[in-house]
Parts: sequence; structure tokens; C-alpha cells
Amino acid sequence: MEMLPKEKTLELRRKHIGEACRLWYPTRPLKIVRAKGQHMYDEQGNAYLDCINNVCHVGHSHPRVVQAAAEQMAILNTNSRFLHDTLVQYAERLTRTMPEKLSVCFLVNSGSEANDLAIQLAQKYTGHKDVITLDHAYHGHLQNVLAISPYKHKLLGKDAKKKWVHVVPPPDMFRGEHCKAENPGEAFANDVKVTIDKAHAGGRKIAAFFAESLQSCGGQLVYPPGYFRNVFRHVHQAGGVCVADEVQIGFGRVGKHWWGFQTQGSDIVPDIVTMGKPMGNGHPIAAVVTTPEIAASMGRGGYQYFNTYGGNPVSCAVGMAVMDIIEDEHLRENATLVGDFLRKELLELKQRFKIIGDVRGMGLFIGIELVQDRATQEPAANEATYIVEFLREKFILISTEGPFCNVLKFKPPMCFSMEDACNLLARLSEALQELESFSVEELEAVAKSKQLPVHRQSAKPLLLPVVDVDEDDLISGPSKSNDSPTTLSEDSGLDLSPSREIEDVNDLNANISRPKKRQKIDL
Ligand SMILES: Cc1ncc(COP(=O)(O)O)c(C=O)c1O
Repeated sequence: MEMLPKEKTLELRRKHIGEACRLWYPTRPLKIVRAKGQHMYDEQGNAYLDCINNVCHVGHSHPRVVQAAAEQMAILNTNSRFLHDTLVQYAERLTRTMPEKLSVCFLVNSGSEANDLAIQLAQKYTGHKDVITLDHAYHGHLQNVLAISPYKHKLLGKDAKKKWVHVVPPPDMFRGEHCKAENPGEAFANDVKVTIDKAHAGGRKIAAFFAESLQSCGGQLVYPPGYFRNVFRHVHQAGGVCVADEVQIGFGRVGKHWWGFQTQGSDIVPDIVTMGKPMGNGHPIAAVVTTPEIAASMGRGGYQYFNTYGGNPVSCAVGMAVMDIIEDEHLRENATLVGDFLRKELLELKQRFKIIGDVRGMGLFIGIELVQDRATQEPAANEATYIVEFLREKFILISTEGPFCNVLKFKPPMCFSMEDACNLLARLSEALQELESFSVEELEAVAKSKQLPVHRQSAKPLLLPVVDVDEDDLISGPSKSNDSPTTLSEDSGLDLSPSREIEDVNDLNANISRPKKRQKIDL
């Protein structure tokens, strides 16, 4: 699988790939040569537990996804200007997971394209221009979506924010201005109302309110009840539409629901929903789903929307396989089960370690916010970087997020098991314990160099040292099962694999070794 020595790969990358395309772990980049389930393997065969990838949603290299793509590729791949059953069946299937009025799809290739198209649709439908966006939001890398992504503005200079964009504070229940209000949902929504009034006073008109249904780049925020209900009312009164960006959190990541906006109530119906990343499990497919009326506005004046690759038969076959797997392997149930367990255990860690200021999330979308001091909420960013580096030493991949880079962000493939959760919790607990022995200067050095001091690095892998790469497996992938590599469950005799029928949650929980016990297991 490795065609070049790592040094050569690095050298060619430096020479031929834009410097702005950054690597994770820049000081000691990882070379990942294959992946399966919730594990990624480097060129030496070391297995890393992936807590980062919300794209390979149903598990890396899932054989059913691979098979669907390969079979369709061998038959036909062309654009959506020809009739094709898979396109319409997929659109029908996708919209079945949505409220009834969201029945029309535009299929595209990336989350950025989906959000760009959503802006166009909102502007055409309303005849207005302006967009309200949440601070710290990221909606993509194209000009217009960059303009509504304050996450990037700070780095692009003040001209990056356009006059037609209005930024409101996110409804942050840890740091936000109204987090202690009697009705925070209403209070945060009122910020949107104030912004609308100001825009109107300046002669501007609102086309859309744009928000992720739970904010990822802003630090894994879960909004207070009533936020969307109140915001949507204000925006509709202003003649605008509401766009829910589900690019990161859609397709059941929140567990109980297919879509994040549904966590705000069954009566909450955005006018436009955008989705991407998990939709194709790594294959580039994304979509805008909206009402027939809004969709019709795109065709006004005889305008034709054409997207060369959007909705091609291969993408649709892949998309369909992903939805089948989510259902057949009970991945939403798994997200609820494992996510609830993780959050409960993380709250226990919060009792032990003062540095944990907040634990939040839903399903397999979790944020752990680190602070120097719970009273002042001073962010602990260097400490967060240290934990990322520590976990890498333990072969666990996790990232930081949020405006202060002090939130540990957890969004793994949806087949993440109870066993993986125990492993993560045990290592995190070790990291927090060790952290206490680090001086401020040492932590600064870790944050600067993005690596642990050499004497603190572990010499050998703790999770599955070396995995033989079976060439047959690589060639005939589709016919093989999506088995995870050997993990603790095989030692313990427990069947914790997410693909089995999850019938009795208590039973499964009862069989789980708690993190404290797990720490004693020498791997
Ligand atoms: C919330 C959100 N929206 C949109 C995008 C853009 O998606 P893509 O990178 O597929 O263009 C991203 C990408 O990270 C995202 O996180």
C-alpha cells in the first residue's frame, strides 16, 4: 500500500501541494494507508482509533458502500440529464426522513456547493439579499459561503465579511451572554430579532438565517430549547427563509433523530436543509433539500440548474448504501447508546478534574470544553493541545475546536463501540492525570511544537500494534465483511460490535467494564 517512503511523500507534498492545505499533527504527520471501521492504519500497520472522521460515517471502507460504487461504476455513470431510477429512488428515500414539506432535492458534490446553492435559492425565492449567520460558523470554502463563515473571517481580514452578511452570537449555553437567562432559547433568538431590525433600519432585507443545527466549528454547541422556534418566527416575519446546515451532524449522528434540527422539536421545519460529508461515506455527494415552492424559484425565467456530477448514478448508489447501512446496522441506536454512555462517564471525569469546564453534545457529537478556572472560564487551549498529542501517543485521533481552540471535539464513525468508548475514556483520564505534572512552560512548548516532550512520548503502540495487511482483503474488499481489527472485546469475550442487534441496552451496559477498571488492563 505504501508506494513511497514517508520522507519522499512529505517532500513531494511540500513541493506540489498548496501550503495552505494543512496537515493534522504538522510536526509528525501521519501517513495513513488504509482504514476500516473506526480504525485507520499507518504505513507501519499501527491502528489508530478514529474519533475525528464524521465523513466515513458508517465506517471506513465499508464493504457495502465499496460494492455499491464498484457495481454501479461498472454499469453506468453519467449526468442527471438522463432519466435514472437510482436518482429518483434516492431522492425519495432521503426526503422520507424529513418533514413532509421538504420534498425536493438538488444533488451536488460538496457541503460548500450545497450551502452556496442554498444562498442562491433563498435569494431567488425571497427577492432579498442579506444573510444572518452565527458567529464562529463555518459553511464552506466558496466565495459566498466563506462570506457567511465568521470562523474564517478573522484570518482573511475585515474585507472578508460582506455588507449583506450579519453575524449574531451563537446560542452558547456555556459562555453565551444569555446562558443564565430564564428562557435562553428566547433570549438568544432575540439577538436575531435585533439584527433583523437593524438591517431593516439600514434599508436591507433578510433572505436567510443560516445555522448548523448544532454548531460544530463553534465548539460543539447544543442550542437551548426554543431557539429555532423563536428564530424561525422572527426570520419568517421578516420575509426570510431558514437554512439548517446538516453537513457535519446529519444522517443520525445525534442518535435519536436523522437530523439535528429535529432535536429542537417535531414542529421545527427549516425551509432549506443542506447536507454532505457523511452522505457518501467519503464519496463526494451532497444535497440541498427544500420545499417545492422554494425549489421552483430556481427555474424562474427559464434558468436551468446544471451540475455535471451532482446526482450521478454512482453517487446515488453510494448514498443509498449509506442509508441502508445506517438502518440495517442500527447506527443511530448505537450513537445514542455509546454517546449517552460517554457523556455520563465524561461528567464523572468532570467531577475529578477541574479543568473540564463543560461536557456537551448529543449522540456521537460531543465537546469537552477545557478551562483554567471554572469561575473565570479562561480557556485552557495549551492543555487541549497537550491532550490531543497525548492521545495520539496512545493511538487515538481527536481534534480541538471552538473560538479558543480549547474544546476537545469528538465525532467518530458511527460504528464507534462501547469498547472504543472505554478505551478513549481510560486514556483521556490518564492524560488528565499526567497533565497535572506538567508546568505552564512545558505546556506552552507542547502547544508550540505540537508534540509531547520526547521523554513523555510512548515508545510503543497501546492499541493493536501491528496489523497484517491482507492483500486479498484489499483487492476483493467488497466481498469481505466490515470487521474491525481485534479489540478488547475479543479478549473479554463480549460482543460489543455495533452491527449486532442492539436489543437490551442495560444488558450491554452491564457487560461494560467501567473506565476505572479499564485503566488497569495492560495493553
Ligand atoms: C458545517 C459545515 N458546512 C459546510 C462545510 C463545507 O463542506 P465541504 O468541505 O464538503 O465543501 C463544512 C466542512 O467542513 C462544514 O463543517
